[in-house]
This record gives sequence, C-alpha cells and structure tokens, in this order.
Amino acid sequence: MSRITLSVIKADVGGWVGHTSVHPQLISKAEQVLSESSLLKDFHVAYVGDDVNLIMTHELGVDSTEIHQLAWDTFLACTEVAKELKLYGAGQDLLSDAFSGNVKGMGPGVAEMEFEERKAEPVIVFMADKTEPGAWNLPLYKMFADPFNTIGLVIDPKMHRGFVMEVHDLIEHKSVKFSLPEELYDLLVFIGAPGRYAVKAVYSKTTGDIAAACSTQRLNLMAGRYVGKDDPVCIVRCQSGLPAVGEAVEPFANPHLVAGWMRGSHVGPLMPVSVEDSHPTRFDGPPRVIALGFQIANGKLIGPRDLFADVSYDRARQKALEIADYLRRLGPFEPHRLPLEDMEYTTMPEVMERLKERFKPIED
Ligand code: F6R
Ligand code: MG
Ligand code: MG
Repeated sequence: MSRITLSVIKADVGGWVGHTSVHPQLISKAEQVLSESSLLKDFHVAYVGDDVNLIMTHELGVDSTEIHQLAWDTFLACTEVAKELKLYGAGQDLLSDAFSGNVKGMGPGVAEMEFEERKAEPVIVFMADKTEPGAWNLPLYKMFADPFNTIGLVIDPKMHRGFVMEVHDLIEHKSVKFSLPEELYDLLVFIGAPGRYAVKAVYSKTTGDIAAACSTQRLNLMAGRYVGKDDPVCIVRCQSGLPAVGEAVEPFANPHLVAGWMRGSHVGPLMPVSVEDSHPTRFDGPPRVIALGFQIANGKLIGPRDLFADVSYDRARQKALEIADYLRRLGPFEPHRLPLEDMEYTTMPEVMERLKERFKPIED
C-alpha cells in the first residue's frame, strides 16, 4: 500500500475578460509545465471563473517544498502568458517576487491531504470563484454532521461514531478541533461566522483518516490591501465510511449565501455549475462552485467527472438566479452589500474626511 498526496493549489494570474474566466493559453501553459516535471504521479489543470487550479498527485507529502515550487513556477509561467495577452490583473495572486519554500502566505490557495490509497478511492475537488474559504463551512457541516443531509451518519456503522472537524480562526491564526456530534453546538458558534472561522479539515473518528481538506488563505489579510478574492478549494474523500458522492454534493442543492460577489463586497448565492458554465458574468457573479470527481488509481487521476453538469442541479441554479435577482434589487444596501468592516473596497475614509466638518453633535 502506498501513501499518496493530493495537492490542489490555485491562483488567479490574469482574467479573460475582466475577472470572468481563464484564457485557454494559460491552461495549456500550466499543462505543459506540469507535464515536464518528474515529481508528479498525475495532474489535472482545472479552472473556475478566473482561477487556475492545479490538481496534483505525488508521494512527497503535504507542504512539500518541491511541489510548492513547481506550482509557483507554473503560475509564474502562466503570468508571462497573461502579460503577453495583457489579461486583466496578470500575476495578481503572486504577492511576492521570490519563492521561499511554501506557497502559503504568498497568494495562492492550498488544500492538500496525504492518505493510504484505498481499494477504490473516490474524491471530489470542489472549487469556487468570487467567494471566501468560509464558504465551505455550511456544506461541510451538512456533509459530516447533519443526518438530514447524510443518512450514512445514522445507518452506516463506519460513520456512526461521527467526525472531528478542525477549524481555523483566520484573524488570530489559531486552530481548534471539535468532536462531532457531541460538540455540534459549540462548533456552530464559530463556523456560523464564516468570515472569521473556516473549516480546515475533517477526520473520521472510526479510522482516524483524513476525510476533507480546505484552503483557508485570505488574500487581503496577507497583503494588507485588496488584491483579489480568495476563491477557495476543498477536497472531500468519499464512500465506505465517508460521505457517499451523492451525500457530498447534496448540500449544494440549496444555494447558500456567501460573501465575495462584485468587488469582494457583496453577498450572493453560491451557484453549482458545470465547468462550461463556470464564468461569473452578471455583476461579476453570482459566485460559482464546480465539483470535479476522480477515482484515484495508483496515484492516477481517473477523471474528471463534472458532477454539477447534471439535470438534478437545474433547480438549484434556478433558485440561485432568483436569489440573485432579489439581492441585486437591494443595490448598495446591506445585506446585499457587506457590512462596512467586511468590504474589500471602500471610499469611506475619503468621504468621511471630506464631510467631517458637516457632522454636528446631536444635542439631546
Ligand atoms: C475580483 C472581483 C471583481 C472585481 C471588479 C473590480 O475577484 O470580484 O468583482 O473586484 O471587477 O475590479 P477592478 O477594481 O480591478 O476594476
Ligand atoms: Mg480575479
Ligand atoms: Mg477568482
């Protein structure tokens, strides 16, 4: 039995047109760079909206300097192409000129997990555009803790003990684990606030194995200014003691509201779409999620299967579009627009400075 690592590393290195999609030449450049590397067992280059997602298998473990270097070099090569084509925001997610051993904190988003490849190893890579890492909190809660979503929690003996959920405080840089179902209510105090607390990983209590891993990078916190959205990724292993593929995709049938639409400053429904439809256009959105399924066979990625390219998600899309219509009519008002402190763009300091003399004390 070999241990395999699945690394998903993503970045926006230039949009075509604006922030709506990835130019095909960026995809072919990424494929070329990865195919020239001897480090990988296999790879698939995916895109959602304006983000390039490198899905890679190897035997070098998580946080491997060589794999992170490879991803960084791939994004640099794509940036060169983006600059030639004058794509929008070429190189925007590469926050530094020099690679220092790990892409974490340097702009790209990273979700990685190492595991013993099972007799059959179905995995789903979820990738979203125009939102933030906490967008996975609600669907992961449903997948791993809600029996109304995942009947396996009730009737599969290998799931019945529940899962451990690791949560990151993205402001204080702290990590905490909750044992489910006993600590459900404590968990929800935190993950119900997805702008600050994001699920990082999930582990089976039956086997101790990793079941899910997410990217939790927040670009604006890293850069100290707005440089783009985090547009997170999430890997979920499925079946035999883990959520069935159908249980893992079920939460997306009810599009939940996430932060990150237009200028990273609006709330919108997370719309499940096929790869072909993963181009956020209306008001730079609404936010989208794709789900690529693979069977892993000796490190080879057998796939992808485009899981949301299915008629059973048509109503979710319809509902998302209705929610989008409703929210758009609220224009610059909360809760469509994010609260002041959460907006990625603001003119508040400048407007306040200009008007400050006009603010008089209220005498009563
Ligand atoms: C980017 C995004 C977009 C941009 C918007 C304005 O992730 O969500 O909505 O924020 O298109 O972009 P700039 O300021 O570059 O013109
Ligand atoms: Mg962008
Ligand atoms: Mg993006």
